[in-house]
Amino acid sequence: MVDLISIRDLDKKAIESLIKSAQEIAEGREVDLDGIVATMFFEPSTRTKLSFQSAALRSGMEYIDFQPESSSLKKGESYSDTIKVVSGYSDVLVVRHPKEGAARLAADLTDKPVINAGDGANQHPTQTLIDLFSIKKNKGRIGGLKIALLGDLKHARTMRSLVYGLAMFGSNVTLISPEGLEMEPEYIKELGDKFSFKPKITNEPNFSEADVLYVCRIQQERFADPYEAKRVTDQFRIKAQDIKDAKEDLVILDPLPKLNEIDSAIDKMKQAKYFEQAHFGIPIRQAVLEYVR
Ligand code: NCD
Repeated sequence: MVDLISIRDLDKKAIESLIKSAQEIAEGREVDLDGIVATMFFEPSTRTKLSFQSAALRSGMEYIDFQPESSSLKKGESYSDTIKVVSGYSDVLVVRHPKEGAARLAADLTDKPVINAGDGANQHPTQTLIDLFSIKKNKGRIGGLKIALLGDLKHARTMRSLVYGLAMFGSNVTLISPEGLEMEPEYIKELGDKFSFKPKITNEPNFSEADVLYVCRIQQERFADPYEAKRVTDQFRIKAQDIKDAKEDLVILDPLPKLNEIDSAIDKMKQAKYFEQAHFGIPIRQAVLEYVR
């Protein structure tokens, strides 16, 4: 029994083995688990919650869904007590929370495996596995590719998690963000020290050289000033023409939801792989359930 709280919890070998396992599951291998998954989402979710529930059902498990709005949290019960109680009702806890460190705290409070489904602006390790799986599926490899990460690099946990995985695999990464939304320099330094990672950093939304363009929305809920979020959102919008000017075999990924950072005309272009990426959430999360059990 193990937790999955951060992408740091996995080394390259473990990631490769989870990707291989997800590939086998996608090709029809049955996953045979038992027990109950508790999905505990203290922040909104469509894909992560439903794909975990679907992955549990497809793997022979059942799930219970904790809903903060109609729970005793409303009577003032603490997060810690809630985790302790629900851990007695389930065998695996999948936790999403707006506060960084909340999933780690949950893991400290229970002996059951805890999977981080996103903690504030910090980490989202299962999304990273989906992203790496999508890159591998589309490009046959991860290392050596030119990968542009474009969007809110300051607040998006998907970006923080993914860049760690890409650094581990030796991809050539360009970090593109509006001014003021750059990735935290200490984090990039950590990756430099660990993996000799040296990304290109720019405020220009130019990805003409990229093999993979990974876009993530401006995380407006993490801004102190909603007007500032709106201003930067309008600055970074990708149009069909930008894609025509890029590499012919460009792959565009986005963890979704997308708002208006990608023009809807792009959805029909062959480069757009984000809906397929969302569907990879099932085999990856089945592989993760198997890994933590
Ligand atoms: C992401 C998240 O919650 O961090 N969504 C997801 O899990 N697919 C991305 C986002 O909300 O922008």
